[in-house]
Amino acid sequence: MAAFGRRKTKEDSPKKKISKEALKKTLRLFKYVKPYMGTFIIGLVFLFLSSLASMVFPYLTGMLVDAADTDLLEKINQIALLLLGVFFLNAVFSFFRIYTFAIVTQKTLASLRQATYNQLIRLKMQFFSERRVGELNSRISSDIALLQETFTTTIAEFLRQILIIFIGVALLAYLSIKLTLLMLALVPVVVIVAVIFGKKIRGLSKEAQNQVADSNVIVEETLQGIATVKAFVNESFEYMRYKKKTEEIIGISLKGAIWRGAFASFIIFCLFGSIVAVIWYGVILVQGNEMSIGDLFTFILYSVFVGASLGGIADLYSQLQKAVGATENLLEIFDEEREEEQIINTKLTVDKGEIKFQDVDFAYPNRADIPVLKNLNFSIKAGQQVALVGPSGAGKSTITSLILKFYTAQKGEVLIDGINIMDYGLENLRSSMAIVPQDVILFGGSIYDNILYGKPNATKEEVQKAAKKANAYDFIQGFPEGFQTLVGERGVQLSGGQRQRIAIARAILKDPKILILDEATSSLDSQSEQLVQQALDELMKGRTSLVIAHRLSTIQKADHILVLKDGELVESGTHEELNNKEEGLYKNLKELQMG
Ligand SMILES: Nc1ncnc2c1ncn2[C@@H]1O[C@H](COP(=O)(O)OP(=O)(O)OP(=O)(O)O)[C@@H](O)[C@H]1O
Ligand SMILES: [Mg+2]
Repeated sequence: MAAFGRRKTKEDSPKKKISKEALKKTLRLFKYVKPYMGTFIIGLVFLFLSSLASMVFPYLTGMLVDAADTDLLEKINQIALLLLGVFFLNAVFSFFRIYTFAIVTQKTLASLRQATYNQLIRLKMQFFSERRVGELNSRISSDIALLQETFTTTIAEFLRQILIIFIGVALLAYLSIKLTLLMLALVPVVVIVAVIFGKKIRGLSKEAQNQVADSNVIVEETLQGIATVKAFVNESFEYMRYKKKTEEIIGISLKGAIWRGAFASFIIFCLFGSIVAVIWYGVILVQGNEMSIGDLFTFILYSVFVGASLGGIADLYSQLQKAVGATENLLEIFDEEREEEQIINTKLTVDKGEIKFQDVDFAYPNRADIPVLKNLNFSIKAGQQVALVGPSGAGKSTITSLILKFYTAQKGEVLIDGINIMDYGLENLRSSMAIVPQDVILFGGSIYDNILYGKPNATKEEVQKAAKKANAYDFIQGFPEGFQTLVGERGVQLSGGQRQRIAIARAILKDPKILILDEATSSLDSQSEQLVQQALDELMKGRTSLVIAHRLSTIQKADHILVLKDGELVESGTHEELNNKEEGLYKNLKELQMG
């Protein structure tokens, strides 16, 4: 639960500068922009036009100032009108620039979200056992949100500022080389400082981002396990944990704010400093008749434009750096191995449903040094019902994971119908199996949809029939909304036995060759136990079933019983055979259960 088994959040990907490598990685995202390249280019054109329109403004203003010298009122009016026209055009261009970029952004993000999700759900089980769901979830949503901002505003702004700087400097040079040289002498200082600040700010903001993700994990985990939090009266404990995290965020964010503030001050100082320097030198030039007052006016306006762009660009650059960081995180998921990389080129399907474990050794990849299954040998004939019993942690659920090919054995083979499980395609293999897991989680939606999950193309009659067989029909009909009753997140509105019967109905609907039941130890009352048991009996008819059994009735009826301890098969046989072994583990376990 949240309070226990707390694992340190996976360290964020090592901080990388915007290196060639990082950039190359980021360019992989380009794939998602590509289909909207046409729109993107139109956006760029509008961007270019609106930047151009803003650059005409100082020029016309300078002309206006110079026109004051002449007596032509008509000319003055003309220029003013022209200025208005330019502003109008700029307004139109800006609207379309923002709109077209939004189109590209939203479509790109949607396909990126889709691709991320599609990749995520196809990753190996190992990936999920190594990470916390809350962490993954918040990381993905915050990273994508960051990218969204980057796409909608940052990139466009960045390009706009660059354009303004280049066009601006060119125009400045055209107006007066001498003044421009003075201005350019000031620029490198700004740039060097910007680089230093940018580095620091990026590091801090990434750190803050990680802390925010961590704090989200706490919220998500505790909300998911809210019952446990409350039952253990750990509200204060969790609150303190969350409080500590959020306070850490303050610390780091404020540190970042100091750097950003200092940077802003520096830029402002440079900006006004250079304006003063330019005016001072410009006035000298005007005095020496080297330039007109209107030109000086224009020059100052351009300088302000260029200066403001330089100041803004540093901030934008750090935004872009953040986005590169977010991209790297996201791409890490894309670099993870999928469950089935190579398409297995067989049409091989499970025919009879025989299961055989041959000298199987297994350890979970994230704890490779702890063997979970040791030299395991057993076989289950088609149509047989086999019970798997043993103490908690013996490896029972692990066996089911191997049959479902969630993990691969390090040594030995798992055979289905005498064929190595590795030779089956995942889809063919798993579609011949159904599992009723230890902890049934229902998806948000109606009961009907939850049953339908077993066979999405089933008819209404089939769903109802499955519910009847699972002994679930009556209680479902007991709800005012019947099959359309919504089951909340994790199905909390239903009892354990009801959830189990829905899972059983789902499995019945799937009609698998091989059935895996991981019975919950949950002590159902004897009536619901009976109902569930009947449902299970119905479900097991005519198929191979492997039942991790806790209920005596299940065990006694089984054709064969496997007794597992510490990953080893210690006994096997029928109920009678095992019951006659005086010192046997089975007899021991059973006596414990009988109380
Ligand atoms: N995803 C995992 N990663 C690493 N180790 C795991 C993982 N799942 C289970 N284990 C470990 O493997 C061992 C066997 O676990 P398993 O879940 O198979 O036990 P079980 O027999 O089903 O127990 P129970 O009756 O309590 O359900 C345990 O020691 C457990 O800690
Ligand atoms: Mg288990």
